[in-house]
Amino acid sequence: MTALEELNRQVAQCQECDLAKTRNHVVPGEGAEDASIMLIGEAPGFYEDQQGRPFVGAAGRFLDELLKSIGFDRSMVYICNIIKCRPPENRDPMPAEIETCRKWLDRQIEIISPKVIVTLGRHSLARFLKGSSISKVHGKPYTIDGGVCFPLYHPAAALHQQSLRKTIETDFLKLPEVLSQAGSAASGQAEPEPEPRQLSMF
Ligand code: URA
Repeated sequence: MTALEELNRQVAQCQECDLAKTRNHVVPGEGAEDASIMLIGEAPGFYEDQQGRPFVGAAGRFLDELLKSIGFDRSMVYICNIIKCRPPENRDPMPAEIETCRKWLDRQIEIISPKVIVTLGRHSLARFLKGSSISKVHGKPYTIDGGVCFPLYHPAAALHQQSLRKTIETDFLKLPEVLSQAGSAASGQAEPEPEPRQLSMF
């Protein structure tokens, strides 16, 4: 069993918050264990909870299109969420739920060790660039803990607002360059960054 499979086994048994009582399936995440890009959304929704897979509804289909626009597919990245169980009625995740689930995400990041973490939406953004506003930081890469965080709007938000759709499509097209810069930064970087710093490429 790989480290990620073992982690998924543990996550599937988690009973540490009340979401365990209402979920149908835990949604740990999916993709390549050695992915250089990790995309992190908010929380599973109705279809994800039914299937135990991340981003399988309308937002997921849009995410697939975005990946295709840069020549990627799901098997080449890792996709997960800040919390691993669906909040009832798709409400926002609560701070205590995010905190309880934090250890699972931390371990996923440790195992996969991505070069670029793409945050999808404000809850995911808050985990990496605390206090920043998505309208200011989207589409700009930041160095963080020796890696790169690339914040994007949530694909579901883009489905409801045409102007955001264009924005996320344009931002997404920058991802290959962010990845290539992150690769060269990682090989030349001796010390982790003490504070997030915006990379100057865009
Ligand atoms: N929205 C998310 O944030 N995650 C999913 O898995 C699906 C929709």
